[in-house]
Amino acid sequence: MGAKSDIIEQAARMIDAAGKIVALTGAGISVESGIPDFRSPGGLWTRYDPVVYATFESFINDPSKFWEMAADLHPLLENAEPNPAHMALAELEKLGKCEAVITQNIDNLHQRAGSGQVLELHGTFRTGTCLGCRKQHTYEQIKESAFRGEIPRCVICGGVVKPDVVLFGEPLNASVLQRSNELASQCDLMLVIGCGLEVYPAASLPSYAKRGGARIIFVNIASTPYDPIADLILLGKAGEVMPAVVEAYKRIAEKEVKRFGRWKSKDN
Ligand code: APR
Repeated sequence: MGAKSDIIEQAARMIDAAGKIVALTGAGISVESGIPDFRSPGGLWTRYDPVVYATFESFINDPSKFWEMAADLHPLLENAEPNPAHMALAELEKLGKCEAVITQNIDNLHQRAGSGQVLELHGTFRTGTCLGCRKQHTYEQIKESAFRGEIPRCVICGGVVKPDVVLFGEPLNASVLQRSNELASQCDLMLVIGCGLEVYPAASLPSYAKRGGARIIFVNIASTPYDPIADLILLGKAGEVMPAVVEAYKRIAEKEVKRFGRWKSKDN
């Protein structure tokens, strides 16, 4: 077996032995669905200064900047399909080997892949809220203006509609964050997939998991500031690595069914 398949097998054995698994995903898991990440070469923040285009303060002062950037993104979000990495996590959930996906992504691809337990730390592009009267708008009510790069207006009061994504300087949803912290602290394996781990509080979650006694697997095409806490680093594209890991896990589990007559791992 090559070095890569050894590491894939090692990850599969860690999944088999784990009782409570949580995934933390970032923009890297959706790159193979055609959505650029933020900080890799060609990423969104290499083309749009987040201070000008993506802070809550900049949105309040001049929402046209954000919606100008969104016009560039919306066609990618609209045409994106879940890739094999999203599908692999949804399959792990069905196999009882993924309690939840904590995602920083706003693209709804985990849900469309079939993951049922998804915590959206940074919100979603699927809805928007009027800054004036708080009326919630669906994506269909927003998309026409958004595609034209115009500011979507409230259907009730004509106020500025802001998408329900968390901008820099904006608080995260408190209950989503609390639940994410709990899941991270209580899991015994965290799969950290396509995360640059440069933005908090999401970047703290692997450390919470480690402090809670969990083992950590990173899946990434590059190094991150938190590599030292990883028990295993799978260097490669998520859309290639994750399906291989799930197939390797299924082979292990099938052998156990033959030996122990049950699907669950022998350790739990
Ligand atoms: N497979 C696996 N990893 C990948 C792939 C891929 N195909 N492509 C890129 N990556 C990795 C990059 O190496 C990087 O480590 O994904 C990571 C993406 O990092 P960022 O661009 O910083 O995105 P993310 O970690 O999601 O950013 C967190 O910052 O700008 C805010 O709110 C925004 O949710 C975002 C948050």
